[in-house]
Amino acid sequence: MKEVRKPSTLFLPKPVALISASIPGEDNLMTAAWVNVVCMDPPMIAVAVRHSRHTHHIIEKSGQFVVNIPGEDLLHATDCCGMISGKKMDKFAHAKLSRAKGAKTDAPLVEECPLNIECEVKKTNQLGSHTLFIGEVLAVHVDQEVLDEKGNIDIKKFRPFVLNQREYWNMGEKIGDYGFTASGVKVIP
Ligand SMILES: Cc1cc2nc3c(=O)[nH]c(=O)nc-3n(C[C@H](O)[C@H](O)[C@H](O)COP(=O)(O)O)c2cc1C
Repeated sequence: MKEVRKPSTLFLPKPVALISASIPGEDNLMTAAWVNVVCMDPPMIAVAVRHSRHTHHIIEKSGQFVVNIPGEDLLHATDCCGMISGKKMDKFAHAKLSRAKGAKTDAPLVEECPLNIECEVKKTNQLGSHTLFIGEVLAVHVDQEVLDEKGNIDIKKFRPFVLNQREYWNMGEKIGDYGFTASGVKVIP
């Protein structure tokens, strides 16, 4: 039997990312779990950012952000970037993370993250407590260290993690291949 609960944001698991952004003279980053792919063509990613976040102000001004996906080795730094604001401090220095230059935007990449996705804001939706910034992907950077021999990302080398309510969990074991039921079926893209 299922219990019916009141409306909430109980949706799980959520990916965990570090969102970086910059305006002249100032870089910042914040942890985000309300982030996901929302369009394939053109490739787009949306992130929901509360108005009070300093990162909100920076993305609004610059129209750019980078989605950086951390591995488990960055768990401490990732939690830390979600506990304090960069309003009055350099969070890169505080979390001992390094900046790298992007290819298409002025927003800094988090060098230690194996995957960095540069985005340009295409749409901004005021939803209530949060603003949804929808960004078109302009460039994707992948650390070759986390690739397998075919050039695909090897999740065991990457070791991304997710947020399950208020707990961080790793990815566990592979349990199947996408489309493994599709033999003889015309798959709609
Ligand atoms: C795991 C985790 C996920 C979070 N996800 C979000 C999110 O999706 N959107 C948001 O606005 N804040 C989120 N936060 C909170 C911000 O990261 C936090 O308020 C941060 O200090 C904001 O930094 P800033 O003021 O420098 O932008 C999250 C925090 C943690 C620890």
